[in-house]
Amino acid sequence: MTDIHILDADAARAAIADLCEILSDCINGGASVGFMLPFSPNDAVAYWHEIADAVAAGAIILAVAEHEGRIVGTVQVGLASKPNQPHRGDLMKLLVHRSARGLGLSRKLMAAVEEEAARRGRTLLVLDTATGSEAETIYPRFGWERVGVIPDYALWPQGGYCGTTLFYKRIG
Ligand SMILES: CC(C)(COP(=O)(O)OP(=O)(O)OC[C@H]1O[C@@H](n2cnc3c(N)ncnc32)[C@H](O)[C@@H]1OP(=O)(O)O)[C@@H](O)C(=O)NCCC(=O)NCCS
Repeated sequence: MTDIHILDADAARAAIADLCEILSDCINGGASVGFMLPFSPNDAVAYWHEIADAVAAGAIILAVAEHEGRIVGTVQVGLASKPNQPHRGDLMKLLVHRSARGLGLSRKLMAAVEEEAARRGRTLLVLDTATGSEAETIYPRFGWERVGVIPDYALWPQGGYCGTTLFYKRIG
């Protein structure tokens, strides 16, 4: 049984322990999502408090996937605040715990957060993801358009440059 929830700030704060575990698991699994190894769940606490504050400020949409009573997946949309981009959002941090992959959770998370972004008046989403990662292969399956690659954009968590691939999707 899987449920997808869009969290308010209080629910986001209540979910921080699970969110820390998911982020840590993905980084330890090699995902390039902004952090370096070594990385433990405790390293993620400050990050998720910042995200909960951003949810409270209306700057981020935060969705989670609950599978068999446990939060095992998450994704965010940053709501661009520039006056000339009121229609745009940044898809970020699509993360599914390794124990729950291949169950269709990322597809459900993406659908939910895209619907919520459209409900909040967004018509264009953009994202970047590590070139050569598993994640890069899934976005076209969800209707996202591949724009291109920027080489040597970031580091893999264990070190070494990785490129980033840019995607966009019109929604709503
Ligand atoms: C990428 C990730 C979110 C996928 O999560 P998931 O819940 O296992 O994905 P799903 O089960 O919803 O599968 C989604 C689709 O991708 C396909 N897919 C999933 N994993 C795949 C893989 N390793 N290789 C190729 N295709 C894959 C599935 O077949 C499915 O396609 P379909 O719906 O058309 O049948 C997960 O692997 C992850 O958290 N990776 C580490 C974090 C990361 O890199 N996030 C991206 C940040 S931008």
